[in-house]
Amino acid sequence: MNSRRRQKQIERIGVLTAGGDCPGLNAVIRAVVKSAIAVHGWDVIGIKDGFEGLITDNPRSTIPLTLHSVHGILARGGTILGAASRTNPFLYTKRLKGDRILIDVTPRVMERIDELGLNAIVVIGGDGTMRIARELHDMGAPLVGVPKTIDNDVDGTEYSFGFDTAVNIATEAIDRLRTTAESHHRVMIVEVMGRKAGWIALHAGVGGGADVVLIPEQPFDVTVVRERLERCFEDVQHSAIIVVAEGARPKDGQEIYRAGIAGQETPRLGGIGFYLAERLMAEQESLPEDAGYEIRATVLGHVQRGGTPSGADRVLATRFGAAAVRLIAEGRTGRMVALRGEYLTDLPLSRVARMPRTVPLDSDIVQTARELGISLG
Ligand code: F6P
Repeated sequence: MNSRRRQKQIERIGVLTAGGDCPGLNAVIRAVVKSAIAVHGWDVIGIKDGFEGLITDNPRSTIPLTLHSVHGILARGGTILGAASRTNPFLYTKRLKGDRILIDVTPRVMERIDELGLNAIVVIGGDGTMRIARELHDMGAPLVGVPKTIDNDVDGTEYSFGFDTAVNIATEAIDRLRTTAESHHRVMIVEVMGRKAGWIALHAGVGGGADVVLIPEQPFDVTVVRERLERCFEDVQHSAIIVVAEGARPKDGQEIYRAGIAGQETPRLGGIGFYLAERLMAEQESLPEDAGYEIRATVLGHVQRGGTPSGADRVLATRFGAAAVRLIAEGRTGRMVALRGEYLTDLPLSRVARMPRTVPLDSDIVQTARELGISLG
């Protein structure tokens, strides 16, 4: 499918958003629609709720996208197409006589692409979505990938849109929590998202001037954290800010997962902030009553994914959308657009690794954090 010689005349393309929502999704959709129509004169079809829209028979699972339909969506968070975060056509959950079974519905996906007359589809999603896209492409589906995630952990691209907005939100939260930290001489812990990657924690921690940043890539020692806090309280500041990534774990323990939620199969990270607060309180039990400090934890959660995208994310999302259309026009499906340095590039979906892109401990952002006295525990 990625050979230029076999390139069919493009008439109609689709676009879908899979995985969790992320600021900038609508900016990609808008860029795809505008450039596909204005530059190439193609029809564009929006596929609703990620891959769900390619599985169901419901005629309302697709909508024509026109210049009118994307008017005014650049600054809007979420996705006008909807996103089903867990749908995998290779392992599709069906209910059969009360039981949940997993079936392969990819033949239906291939059929639906033909039914809809789609010559190519822009698939916007995270690393899981890129893996599904690669496998579907191997079966003959003409797909182009656009990486999205606030976690910034899609392998093959240095940045994904959504990340900048999430870092801005987390940084602003740190600024606000500092007010309470300083007024009450407290330790304020802020737990941020990121799954198994510490990008949000590290960037927000550096941007917000945190004293401690704990990331999944480096299991932390509670005693080292406590010693750092003691120095903060000996110092003039008499308060401290800790940023902890949801996927961080102590050297003597495991990651913390939220209790299962009915209907959810995948465990969700969350709770390390409260866990850390309790461990640090326990460390103080032997101290005299007037020594020590109060600790409070805040979990930022989905606030980091919501609302209007930052200017940088709007620009990156728009560049990615336009680049995806260029790939289709050149007959180069089976590829994911990516950012390397300042430049847009693309790589085969087969080269998007199975593992998330985590923070290298020898990277300059880690070195910078250490040099500014930020403890990584
Ligand atoms: O991948 C984005 C992300 O927000 C992660 O940072 C977080 O762990 C996860 O999604 C939360 O998923 P859900 O919205 O399904 O709870």
